[in-house]
Amino acid sequence: MAESFTPERVVVTGGAGFIGSNFVHWVMENQPGVHVTVLDALTYAGNLENLKGIPDDRMTFVHGDVCDTELVDRLLSENDACVHFAAESHNDNSIVDPAPFVRTNVQGTYTLLEAARKYDVRFHHISTDEVYGDLALDDPTRFTEETPYHPSSPYSSTKASSDMLVRAWTRTYGIRATISNCSNNYGPYQHIEKFIPRQITNILCGLSPKLYGDGLNVRDWIHTEDHSSAVWRILTCGRVGETYLIGADGEKNNIDVLRAILEGMGKEPDDFVWVRDRPGHDRRYAIDSSKLCHELGWKPKHIDFAQGLAATIRWYQDNEAWWSPLKKATEAKYAKQGQ
Ligand code: NAD
Ligand code: TYD
Repeated sequence: MAESFTPERVVVTGGAGFIGSNFVHWVMENQPGVHVTVLDALTYAGNLENLKGIPDDRMTFVHGDVCDTELVDRLLSENDACVHFAAESHNDNSIVDPAPFVRTNVQGTYTLLEAARKYDVRFHHISTDEVYGDLALDDPTRFTEETPYHPSSPYSSTKASSDMLVRAWTRTYGIRATISNCSNNYGPYQHIEKFIPRQITNILCGLSPKLYGDGLNVRDWIHTEDHSSAVWRILTCGRVGETYLIGADGEKNNIDVLRAILEGMGKEPDDFVWVRDRPGHDRRYAIDSSKLCHELGWKPKHIDFAQGLAATIRWYQDNEAWWSPLKKATEAKYAKQGQ
């Protein structure tokens, strides 16, 4: 398989967040000739510590907003590709206050697309499998690139909207864009509001892990390093105008994931509490990534979930200084919601 595009200077939006920062580290380690410019607003979810240790000659950090037309114009005019991770990313927050989701996820993507059009920059849009809505637990099918959009939450509806903008800009203006829709990521640097790190840090703080609803909701877990390698493959080898689903056959229900965390941390399997369910809670996500695997020859590396989870638990154990300043406010926010 021949590489079709070799970027040298890449703008990474949201590069101080969970998946964006893991992607920047992946590029540093695996693509020695590439310079990255991170554009990040450093919201509650962004943290410069996530980019610590990256040499100045490989990465420039720009503190700014993806809705800032002038700034986005300048950065895209100076680079040959943009990988767009920046977003408001947490479903529970979107239910309490959808406004920043509409602004960043929709307006921000529009702003970047206009600049990509103006400067003919290759654009890769990061999205989620949640745009497809959910599947029943007993449904034998999985999401494919042909599954109709059916988002449930304010978060997933704004991501679906941004995907539609990318498709329209590609078809109407001929911009060189690709889209990927990935399943649930886990790994280091994930904000402790999300399921896996929330439960790990609860246990480390002596708090009870919290399970929504009946705990049977299924998520399709992928290690964030595998997401990074897939995104690079699509950026460099993917066909312009195409969408690729990213997943690693990691379907598990929440109660099994929680019990694996409890066991890995030396706790009893029932050492948790049930809390109020999320309104509109999607039942099951499942990704069929055959197109990416067959067309672009991509393969995930972290296929042993137990091993990936153990390493993630160790990361939170070893990096208390990174997450402990966030813990009180995160739990206070959940307590207000009865979660
Ligand atoms: P995150 O919340 O950890 O990080 C988001 C980053 O974007 C933060 O650094 C934040 O400061 C930045 N940001 C927010 N608003 C901004 C703005 N207006 N301008 C510039 N920067 C801004 O999110 P994440 O979990 O790393 O998700 C990254 C992307 O991947 C998102 O587009 C999300 O929809 C997608 N995604 C996430 C998952 C998952 O499991 N977390 C799965 C599939 C797809
Ligand atoms: P989350 O990490 O918020 O990801 P998403 O909503 O994008 O799938 O949640 C993953 C699953 O875990 C989801 O089914 C909701 C559930 N959940 C809990 O049971 N307890 C929690 O404390 C959190 C944050 C999530």
